[in-house]
Amino acid sequence: MKLNQKDSDKIIWDQMRSNPPPILSTRVTNGYPKLMLYLILFVCATYLIYTLKLLNTHNNIILPCTDHQDLILSTRNSLPNDTGPGVEKTGLKHIVFGIAASAKLWDKRKEYIKLWWKKEDKMRGIVWLDNPVKTRPEEGLPSVRISGNTSHFAYKNKQGHRSAIRISRIVSETVRLGMGDVRWFVMGDDDTVFVTENLVRVLNKYDHNQYWYIGSLSESHLQNIYFSYGMAYGGGGFAISYPLAMALVKMQDRCIQRYPGLYGSDDRMQACMAELGVPLTKELGFHQYDVYGNLFGLLAAHPVTPVVSLHHLDVVEPIFPNMTRVQALQRLMQPMKLDSAGLIQQSICYDQSKGWTVSVSWGFAIQVFRGILSPREVEMPSRTFLNWYRRADYTAYAFNTRPVARNPCQKPFVFYMNKVRLNSTTNVTVSEYARHRVPHPVCKWKMTDPSNLDKVVVFKRPDPQLWDRSPRRNCCRVLKSTKKGLVVDVGLCREDEITEV
Ligand SMILES: *[C@@H]1O[C@H](CO)[C@@H](O)[C@H](O)[C@H]1NC(C)=O
Ligand SMILES: *[C@@H]1O[C@H](CO)[C@@H](O)[C@H](O)[C@H]1NC(C)=O
Ligand SMILES: *[C@@H]1O[C@H](CO)[C@@H](O)[C@H](O)[C@H]1NC(C)=O
Ligand SMILES: *[C@@H]1O[C@H](CO)[C@@H](O)[C@H](O)[C@H]1NC(C)=O
Ligand SMILES: *[C@@H]1O[C@H](CO)[C@@H](O)[C@H](O)[C@H]1NC(C)=O
Repeated sequence: MKLNQKDSDKIIWDQMRSNPPPILSTRVTNGYPKLMLYLILFVCATYLIYTLKLLNTHNNIILPCTDHQDLILSTRNSLPNDTGPGVEKTGLKHIVFGIAASAKLWDKRKEYIKLWWKKEDKMRGIVWLDNPVKTRPEEGLPSVRISGNTSHFAYKNKQGHRSAIRISRIVSETVRLGMGDVRWFVMGDDDTVFVTENLVRVLNKYDHNQYWYIGSLSESHLQNIYFSYGMAYGGGGFAISYPLAMALVKMQDRCIQRYPGLYGSDDRMQACMAELGVPLTKELGFHQYDVYGNLFGLLAAHPVTPVVSLHHLDVVEPIFPNMTRVQALQRLMQPMKLDSAGLIQQSICYDQSKGWTVSVSWGFAIQVFRGILSPREVEMPSRTFLNWYRRADYTAYAFNTRPVARNPCQKPFVFYMNKVRLNSTTNVTVSEYARHRVPHPVCKWKMTDPSNLDKVVVFKRPDPQLWDRSPRRNCCRVLKSTKKGLVVDVGLCREDEITEV
């Protein structure tokens, strides 16, 4: 999604003009005198309170006094009988993916899907396309389907494209395939890469028998203003629990018709969620990445939450330098396989002997700074990227950022991961990070110069239970510091261990 400010203003304007008052409200008031309406509401409320008192289980509530059949959500029949102790944890097999794609970009974009997709016996999902494409079973990609014809839906947004309707309906179309034993429907784009093990970790926190709409916002404050701070951005991916998907499928087509002026697929989805009364539950590991340039600052200071998705990978530079986008992501998949929970997680420590600050983004990169920077500063993403309007503007984001360096001496020395393996004797991962050689400004500080460092080696025990505990950054310790390199240990903080000098 991309708009410049003027266009967006216009869109908001267009929406206000072209969206008549929601049909729902007119539907209620037409034909009833106001007094009558109040009377009905009163009777409804009384009846509801009475019903609630009688019934002691949440899944028997039936609202009797409304003419909106789509909003009457008796979940009695759709609740699986798997609640209670001893219930199987949510696994990959309980998730069905709905991937939005187009025939035109398929050949290029399918490479992103190949990075994370596992064969049909492990994962279920459909790629929804506008036109047929050539497929080869040996590619091991999800099955491909053509979306239903949406030409009879109204689309009145001048900036957007009507494919938004097709993409918004992917949830319904996927639900209608009637797959069994589904707990979650997860949507993503063809240029979204999921870290599926972390997706499972996040979804496991929620009861799939309830209504959940889970995802994340845009990085761009303006995009969030123009669209919504309550909307899951589609490219970052979002999850809808099974009963909510069932409720959505009953009303989505009518709902879409009520919002012809909206821009995209995800704002249409949010409009329907608002009609259903279900708010967005934000999970910061879903990444829309509405930015340009280098993601480094964001990846090197990831929030303390599992990485679930990465998006707009065609827009930003490759995440590792000197290789193609797909190669760079393939490299990231190596540490992911060894310790997905810890992927890109930050830890901060100090080389006391040299007076340096060391920031580890496990499986991705290391930064070494001259001098002591406090954790509150290092855990803030540095602005290595441009905003969605291609400007370097620190007010543009929906979160705090910091300049790349406040002082030229503190421009970080960066090391990118180039190797990772598991020592199966000790059950510890060994990852190696090689110096990214770029010119550094002259620094006159009288202290050891990190520019002699060639590589950093990090030891870390895989920690699949990391997110079963309350969120906390790992601790790191500089084990060895030579002229040419550092050896760092990353792991659970010990008793009383904090990041201080
Ligand atoms: C749950 O439902 C399945 C299929 O409907 C049934 O076979 C099973 O016996 C049920 N389990 C319990 C504990 O009711
Ligand atoms: C979609 O439906 C319209 C009429 O509703 C028809 O004119 C058009 O050919 C259909 N498109 C496809 C691809 O079937
Ligand atoms: C970039 O990669 C090529 C081959 O993959 C290598 O020969 C070259 O030295 C690399 N350049 C840098 C700056 O690392
Ligand atoms: C694994 O770690 C042990 C103990 O540190 C070491 O002796 C051994 O050489 C390591 N193995 C590999 C393959 O690095
Ligand atoms: C290695 O550590 C992981 C995570 O703690 C654990 O699940 C696994 O069983 C361990 N493997 C061995 C061989 O000790």
